[in-house]
Amino acid sequence: MSIGPRHLYNFHDFREQARRRLPRSLFEFVDCGTEDGVAVRNNRAAFERVKLAPKVLVDVSARSTATSLFGVPLRLPIAIAPTGSAGLLWYEGELALARAAARAGAPFSLATGSLTSLERVASEAGGRLWFQLYMWKQKDLSYQLVGRAADAGFESLLVTVDAAVPSNREYNKRNGFNLPFRFNRDNVPGMLAHPGWLLGVMGRYLASGNLPRFENYPPHMQAGILSRRPMEWLALRPDSLSWPDLLELRRIWPRRLVVKGILRPDDAERAIDNGADAIIVSNHGGRMIDSSVAPFDALPAIAARVRGRIPVLLDSGITRGSDVVKALAMGAACVLVGRATLFGTAVAGEAGASAVLDMLHDEMLTTMSLIGCPRVADLGPDCLHQL
Ligand SMILES: Cc1cc2nc3c(=O)[nH]c(=O)nc-3n(C[C@H](O)[C@H](O)[C@H](O)COP(=O)(O)O)c2cc1C
Repeated sequence: MSIGPRHLYNFHDFREQARRRLPRSLFEFVDCGTEDGVAVRNNRAAFERVKLAPKVLVDVSARSTATSLFGVPLRLPIAIAPTGSAGLLWYEGELALARAAARAGAPFSLATGSLTSLERVASEAGGRLWFQLYMWKQKDLSYQLVGRAADAGFESLLVTVDAAVPSNREYNKRNGFNLPFRFNRDNVPGMLAHPGWLLGVMGRYLASGNLPRFENYPPHMQAGILSRRPMEWLALRPDSLSWPDLLELRRIWPRRLVVKGILRPDDAERAIDNGADAIIVSNHGGRMIDSSVAPFDALPAIAARVRGRIPVLLDSGITRGSDVVKALAMGAACVLVGRATLFGTAVAGEAGASAVLDMLHDEMLTTMSLIGCPRVADLGPDCLHQL
């Protein structure tokens, strides 16, 4: 596709354009994983290792990516993963991304750490909305947040369970990148070198008088992203979160409960036992444990253990429609994408995120047609070449 003068045809084009547009500290915050970047590479390698086994002379004239999740039709088996950073990449980027998702028929997940309030997203974006929860140590505050998400009509609660403590992201330290975002001598030069971003994003927030802040946090924790206050909220992470907490969330959350960050069959079983309506097989895009198994490699054993009792979703490393096809063939009901649509948002807001979703949709259709599996229901292990 062409956005303005730029020709952007695939994930790599969007990533490269985002790299040029964003200050280095912000680009690396989105792009990198943790420690040596092994998990990010391995997530890709897992998809690249598995090959498709095409069936020929199949009538593929009626091809479609349509499927359903929780009994509700889905035009595209792709959801937007929670990331909480779109609002730094583009002015009101979370609304832009949510609107693009609604237009594509893709569920949008709003992160606890997003810069737009969940009420505003619910009233202004439309579409299918999921809310991602990071529990705080003060559990009552988290339960109040869950109540807000329920009142605002969010369809599902995604409880992230793979982030008990912050991971080791050396690039953030080196780049002077902090949340709440603070100007310092390590990150200011990078920002000044990207005036398009500085004026188009920070400038617009300043001009509007609404400096970005963690809108979903309780007021006393809502340090603006330019705040000089200490990162009080980081101390609120739940290193004590355990299975009984999930049961309590099950008790108070009235709709679909989804556990995000499962990588083992026994944990999938425990998630079902504790009331999960779905799980997301995920290693957080390779951002938590550098030696983590790739979710795509972990998927077959988990799907076999779950035996269709609940939908199994997958994320981490998806950059092509063919990756989505492989994940569905391997047993995923739906996938989530994080960086792909973030890069789209960084390049051109809603139009950029829409372009990425359209691109993934087109790539899926092409792959499904070429392997003789024109419908999602046709995708299964026999589409994959067994080594
Ligand atoms: C910049 C960034 C911020 C993220 N923030 C969160 C978050 O707040 N909560 C969460 O559960 N996952 C978060 N994730 C992980 C994503 O939800 C998702 O698991 C991951 O991005 C999928 O991998 P992919 O980026 O390769 O598609 C974040 C990912 C990125 C790239």
